[in-house]
Amino acid sequence: MDKGFNEEWIEKLKQSNDIVSVVGKYITLAKKGRTWWACCPFHFEKTPSFAVNDIEQYFHCFGCGASGDVIKFVEKYESLDFYDACAKLAEYAGMELPEYKTDENLLKTKKKRERIYQALLDAARYYYSNLKLKESQVALDYLSKRKLDTATIKEFGLGYSLGWTEAIKYLNSKGYTDEELIDAGIAEKRSDGTLYDVYAKRLIFPIFNIYGNIVGFSGRVLEKSDFAKYKNTSQTLVFDKSKCIYGINQLKKLKNTENIKEVVIVEGQMDVISLYKAGVRNAVACMGTALTPSHAKDLKRFSDKVILCFDGDSAGQKATLRSIEILFNAGMNVFIVTIPNNNDPDEFINLYGINEWNKMLSGAYYWVEFLIRDFANHYDLTKMEQKNKFISDSLNVIKKLPTNSEQEIYLKMVQDMSNVSINVLKSDLKNGTNTELKQEDIKEQIEDKQINLKDNAYVKAVKFIISALIHKKEYAKLDDRIRQSLLNSDYVKIYDYVAGEHSEGRIPIVSKLFDMFDVEGQKDIYDVVNFVFVAGEDNEKYYNDCVKILVKTGLTTQKDQLLAKLSKTKDSEEKKAIMSEIQKILIMEKTK
Ligand code: CTP
Ligand code: MN
Repeated sequence: MDKGFNEEWIEKLKQSNDIVSVVGKYITLAKKGRTWWACCPFHFEKTPSFAVNDIEQYFHCFGCGASGDVIKFVEKYESLDFYDACAKLAEYAGMELPEYKTDENLLKTKKKRERIYQALLDAARYYYSNLKLKESQVALDYLSKRKLDTATIKEFGLGYSLGWTEAIKYLNSKGYTDEELIDAGIAEKRSDGTLYDVYAKRLIFPIFNIYGNIVGFSGRVLEKSDFAKYKNTSQTLVFDKSKCIYGINQLKKLKNTENIKEVVIVEGQMDVISLYKAGVRNAVACMGTALTPSHAKDLKRFSDKVILCFDGDSAGQKATLRSIEILFNAGMNVFIVTIPNNNDPDEFINLYGINEWNKMLSGAYYWVEFLIRDFANHYDLTKMEQKNKFISDSLNVIKKLPTNSEQEIYLKMVQDMSNVSINVLKSDLKNGTNTELKQEDIKEQIEDKQINLKDNAYVKAVKFIISALIHKKEYAKLDDRIRQSLLNSDYVKIYDYVAGEHSEGRIPIVSKLFDMFDVEGQKDIYDVVNFVFVAGEDNEKYYNDCVKILVKTGLTTQKDQLLAKLSKTKDSEEKKAIMSEIQKILIMEKTK
């Protein structure tokens, strides 16, 4: 990862900052066996599950999954970015920060970013303070119509923009240049070159990131007009709509005080706010965009369970379907709730209160059940042809479930709805009812060289091997066949690192991986770093078995990929080349 400092210096920085003593500056650690323990500073807990490993120089929380090296710890604990965390550690160690000559641009960008944050904060304070003025009566009337009280307005930092130029004048007077205001997404230029406030005459919702910085605004019109109801900050250096989550900073606060059982995703920021006011603290919203994998990844840090609560209109339903897929792929347990009578959460909570809300959420459907019910609503099950479609759509969903017992539950449901016996459904499931779809799936898998992430034997074997190598288990021997069979390029990178250290006569260390990857953000790498080895005498045999599985599956998958490529290629030269590669694999398969 390009981090702006040279690698040797970072290495030295880490060597001069022993993780146990640095973490010890912030929290009290107690040594038990070979590990240091504490209650985790990143989530609420009563018994310690936060471990610091002084040999490998990394921390890991078995409760919330926070994980990293000494730099990461300071970043997280002090809410600093990488550069500032390094600066802090350099100070601890009495080291000088190296000149940033090579990364002039990086530094410039950082300064610019900080200036944007400052401008946004000043703007937000200004909009908020406007609410005290009598010119803001329309906004105050609106807020009371929406039943928002002073405490809630303050918590979310709501405000009002008086007109087209007032905020600009104020911010100019505070020293911000026109260019800075444009960069921050607060102002835009008219054709005559003068600036206007993007959120003029709108109710202002500041948007916070996870660190509590304001990154942008959403402005709502107060009176009926031809303008869009909401206007959000366009893309800036600090604002990316596809990544931001409204309410994430409140969620982070919640995590520090209790265990978050589930996160509820709603459609709009008014929903988040009304729910919060009513005492529901676990709701967040994506700002008028479809949910993205980046949203899913960020939310997974708070809870593995999410409940989708989108509007009942067709846009909301489409959003639900897409979101299920994204959240499922991120490894989350997805539930869906549909609010009756087309109410949105804001309307619902104001009408019925928190108890009814909780009751409704406890009746949320698991995504499989939701989809099956959804299919049943769309097809007329009294017609043969549609019933067949219903069954095949449902089976396509059910086959994604990892265990037979889970599958059985939903097969029973389909049986009840279709009157087709479960045995027939089971055999259809085994044979694959919808071969067309199946091939699509396979093609997709081959194309992004992604192996099925379910914990099948291959994935288990690879994780064990890579973990054993990086954790220096004595039975873990390097072997070229392992490298050849790794289909995940990140694992190849780890393998090469371990092999490189060996050949230089050095010992690989786990904490190095935190420089190479975003460990917390990538589940595969995370699993390898935090692999739990079960002490046993037959680990050596297990390792060798894993290598066998790995090599076998690796070869088969490569062969499949080549076959797929072959069927697509028209060029005869290329065909020949592919054939000869397949031939090689066939020979390897035989000689093993
Ligand atoms: N949105 C947007 N631009 C629009 C309309 C909506 O960015 N022109 C986003 C906003 O973030 C909004 C969310 O989509 O919160 C949901 O929109 P909608 O359901 O229309 O609004 P509500 O949240 O119900 O807002 P309100 O209750 O204020 O009408
Ligand atoms: Mn609404």
